[in-house]
Amino acid sequence: MAADNDPRTVSGEAQPDDDGALDRALRPQRLDDLIGQDAVRDNLRIAIQAARGRAESLDHVLIYGPPGLGKTTLSHIIAREMGANLRVTSGPAIERAGDLAAILTNLRAHDVLFIDEIHRLSRAVEEVLYPAMEDFALDIVIGKGPSARSVRLKLPPITIVGATTRLALLSNPLRDRFQVQLRVDFYPLDAMSLIVDRAARLLDTPITDAAVRDIAARARGTPRVGLRLLKRVRDYAQVRGDGGISPAVAIDALKLLGVDALGLDDLDMRVLQALIGKFGGGPVGLETIAASISEDSDTIMDVVEPYLLQLGFLDRTPRGRVATARAYEHLGVPFTPPPSTQSALL
Ligand SMILES: Nc1ncnc2c1ncn2[C@@H]1O[C@H](COP(=O)(O)OP(=O)(O)O)[C@@H](O)[C@H]1O
Ligand SMILES: [Mg+2]
Repeated sequence: MAADNDPRTVSGEAQPDDDGALDRALRPQRLDDLIGQDAVRDNLRIAIQAARGRAESLDHVLIYGPPGLGKTTLSHIIAREMGANLRVTSGPAIERAGDLAAILTNLRAHDVLFIDEIHRLSRAVEEVLYPAMEDFALDIVIGKGPSARSVRLKLPPITIVGATTRLALLSNPLRDRFQVQLRVDFYPLDAMSLIVDRAARLLDTPITDAAVRDIAARARGTPRVGLRLLKRVRDYAQVRGDGGISPAVAIDALKLLGVDALGLDDLDMRVLQALIGKFGGGPVGLETIAASISEDSDTIMDVVEPYLLQLGFLDRTPRGRVATARAYEHLGVPFTPPPSTQSALL
């Protein structure tokens, strides 16, 4: 996944120092505390109220979208709003079918099992999950060879909440077993500003509205990035100033962090420069770009490309990635349309 030895300030992926007490204090606890993601919140509220009204377990929920947008937070909120226990695991952590069976048999009625990175479950483990989700049952095979037989154990009614950054890697049978499917999206500037402002207040850090927006504008629509930038700027304000965050302090600190006015950092710029400088603006495959700058293609796919697409700097075509006029403009390079567009113009 991401290059762990080189944590990027603007990466949406979690980093070791993200998971401290501070972050737990900043994490929204209830649906009402959640900023943005209105569609997600409304859908969840209805599903939760309906389940509670019938005194049933909540339907299984799949949450998908880029890292740092609130998938894990939502799983905690779901359990809390259901008044249920939360058990947290992840696709890579469940190595064998027996591991999942052990987790499932220890759950109580209405408990929520959160499976992060659910696209990384092995096929054998998925097979155990199907009857658990569909019939609240566990099929176990007793004995070996011709005398082997399958026994069905009853499980209590539970809720599986799965999260993934890669919906396309999920098998169809698994995807179909989630009755509620929620896509978390990048946050618009207004919602991002509210998140930064709320966090500054919880941290007791004085900040002006303009400085809130300066930080929010560089957060790539990603709360995890917004909160990380705020913490870095807050450190800067404390060491170099009087602790308060004015726009001047924010801009100085953000410059020092190597984050430009759009929230792009060195890695984003290297991807853009490769695409435009080495490959004439494309079309070129993502793997080729990744190899040309010696970067991990997963990292580029998860945390570089989605934001460049969102900025309208990049187009995905059947023949590969293409840089747009806007990307050229940001680099200060004269725009040359890709060959396919050129011939279409002739
Ligand atoms: N809607 C939101 N409002 C406020 N903070 C949020 C929101 N969504 C996420 N966060 C914060 O952003 C960080 C990343 O969220 P998380 O749920 O861990 O993302 P994901 O699991 O999608 O990678 C957390 O610190 C969380 O508190
Ligand atoms: Mg998460």
